Amino acid sequence: MPRKILVTSALPYANGSIHLGHLVEYIQTDIWVRFQKMRGNTCHYICADDTHGTPIMLRAEKEGITPEQLIARVWQEHFDDFAAFHVAFDNYGSTNSDDTKESAQGIYRTLKANGLIEVRSIEQYFDPVKNMFLPDRFIKGECPKCHAKDQYGDNCEVCGAAYAPTDLIEPYSAVSGAKPELRNSDHYFFKLSSASCQKFLREWTTGKLTNVPPLQQEAANKMQEWLGAEGENKLTDWDISRDAPYFGFEIPDAPGKYFYVWLDAPVGYMGSFKQLCNKSTLTPTLSHGERGQSLPSPTGRGAGGEGTPLNFDDYWKQGSDAELYHFIGKDILYFHALFWPAMLQHAGFRTPTKLFAHGFLTVNGEKMSKSRGTFITARSYVDHIKNTEYLRYYYAAKLNGTMEDIDLNLEDFVAKVNSDLIGKYINIASRCAGFLTKLFDGKLVFSNSKRLLDGAIVSGQLVSESFEARDYARALRDIMAIADRINVEIAAAAPWTLAKDETQRAALQDISSRALHGFYVLSILLSPVLPALTSRVARELFGMASDFTWADLAVLPTNVNTYQHLATRLDPKLIEAMVAANQESLKPMTETHSQQRHAEAQQHTISPSAGTAQTLPSPQPSPLKGEGANAGAIAPTISIDDFAKIDLRVARIVNAEHVEGAEKLLKLTLDIGEAQPRTVFAGIKSAYDPEKLKGRMTVMVANLAPRKMKFGLSEGMVLAASGETPGLFILSPDAGAQPGMRIK
Ligand code: MSP
Ligand code: ZN
Repeated sequence: MPRKILVTSALPYANGSIHLGHLVEYIQTDIWVRFQKMRGNTCHYICADDTHGTPIMLRAEKEGITPEQLIARVWQEHFDDFAAFHVAFDNYGSTNSDDTKESAQGIYRTLKANGLIEVRSIEQYFDPVKNMFLPDRFIKGECPKCHAKDQYGDNCEVCGAAYAPTDLIEPYSAVSGAKPELRNSDHYFFKLSSASCQKFLREWTTGKLTNVPPLQQEAANKMQEWLGAEGENKLTDWDISRDAPYFGFEIPDAPGKYFYVWLDAPVGYMGSFKQLCNKSTLTPTLSHGERGQSLPSPTGRGAGGEGTPLNFDDYWKQGSDAELYHFIGKDILYFHALFWPAMLQHAGFRTPTKLFAHGFLTVNGEKMSKSRGTFITARSYVDHIKNTEYLRYYYAAKLNGTMEDIDLNLEDFVAKVNSDLIGKYINIASRCAGFLTKLFDGKLVFSNSKRLLDGAIVSGQLVSESFEARDYARALRDIMAIADRINVEIAAAAPWTLAKDETQRAALQDISSRALHGFYVLSILLSPVLPALTSRVARELFGMASDFTWADLAVLPTNVNTYQHLATRLDPKLIEAMVAANQESLKPMTETHSQQRHAEAQQHTISPSAGTAQTLPSPQPSPLKGEGANAGAIAPTISIDDFAKIDLRVARIVNAEHVEGAEKLLKLTLDIGEAQPRTVFAGIKSAYDPEKLKGRMTVMVANLAPRKMKFGLSEGMVLAASGETPGLFILSPDAGAQPGMRIK
């Protein structure tokens, strides 16, 4: 009986690019899903962008676009990045969908009906300039312990102390720079401390409910710590509401209150699966993996349905016989092991079968770092290395199903790819296939078919146990040991010598056939890890009509086609170039870098001084938190020719006005001596009263490509100074300068 399996990866935030750290998770999950599909199980892999919350709202505002525009753009980037790494979701959706909204509101209503929602007034910091309550990460101030300046509201990056935002000395809003005020507001809480939640979670962790312990040992230990001893009530209620303005879903019957992003994020798993169900009724006959792309549906996209229409309740209702697995990073275990199962249980849904948590990626033994050039985005990897299966192979060789961190050692990466993948695996085919196609019309003959088939089945069994247990490292060790044995046989038989002797044709066909069968077996076993490469092996080399499945191990190939080049050695120079290109201190900040910073700071903060759309972005903050106006390292040297490309002009501010609906922008009309004045939208509203700007002289970039913004076309950029401390300062020429004068 094929198993019914639903698999998810965590939903990446829609405010940053996918980087090599994220890919540890998506590649790990994809390998497991492909393995399940190859085994003939019914397996669905779903994911989505996690689109709500304050950071996304503020970032969109900063870019002068709507949150919907921002998340649509990022969705496409994420979708393309995953596709480049052969991560084949059956549906890739967005939490900002009707499906997710309905489910989230439905769950909330049931929890409320079951007495698990409570309203309480809480005191929180409020930004009087931005008119919004501030999440902890958007409040900064002096650390109460070590007195380091500019620390976040929840913990100090210098001394590591954890505290409440109200403990900060001289707090300020990281959004506007204003001094925050304490205000009261009603918040909605999910009663995690209730007897019912406690009881359920204690039972769930032991596996009593599903007959399988749902957590890895390390995760189970953490859970014990959170739950405390029997009778001890360590869980506290969970604040699930946020006040407007917030980008998210409104709470039913609670005007101005929104679900906290983490309430609807896991519900996004359901929403994305619902979309898959809808798709499966529309596109009935698409096979698994990358064989087909379904028509893009309005909100989700992926490889398509599985043949028979899928039923949502089959997979999600309490008592479902389907298996549900969530792959997650260890940093989000708390949300998936406590809130999520408790929510599901009390809203009438099934709970996860297992959570598969993994560790964090380090590069060359250290945290990914911009200054070392090891904070590498998926896009940058593709641009430099191109072959994304090399990384899949390397990660697989490191992943063992535990929560240990995994290290991408760049030298070892090159060595492993070249010695194992090319040297041991690809070489078998590249050395032996030619004898068969040139001398034997591509025909394989086997003297002892039974022994070969038995060997393949045994290997398949061994390796499948490792894949199932997510110990890909062990799977690859076993696979490479098979490759070693085949290479030893080839070396002993020396087909290249046999080929020179007409009387040795039978022996030559024998060793070449066995070598190619070995290559066939290895390719099947490697398929979950190297889907694109092995698809070519199946179709081009062995002339098969479809990709490999596990059942192909029970068959002997009869023919090979002419060997076509399959893969090249990885050139270490490509890695060097990639690292150099990512070395932040070596180049000025661009749009992409600011995105990466958000990815890295993950829901943290925006720099209080960061310019908006049409003011120059502030440089990368220095890693050493300095005093005063520190605005990061000096950008790399440029030539006078580089500088001459920028046409700076003295401009007279003819008019300045507020822009309806824009929080940060002022609309400036600038005279630079042209027939028509220019319109420029500048993100300086927080610092300037438009009335006081009228008639003033300043400096603009006159040859910047015009940019279409939500509020109109911006035809240039006004320059402003900013540092790490709040404040924004536009420039003025000395008296006498005339509009249109060039600044050189
Ligand atoms: N949006 C939340 C998840 C919501 S799930 C209902 C989130 N997003 S994230 O973009 O920050 O991370 C997505 C996944 O990538 C998480 O599982 C996270 O642990 C993982 N990783 C992010 N950076 C990582 C590394 N450097 N290394 C390994 N995994 C990492 O959390
Ligand atoms: Zn401190």
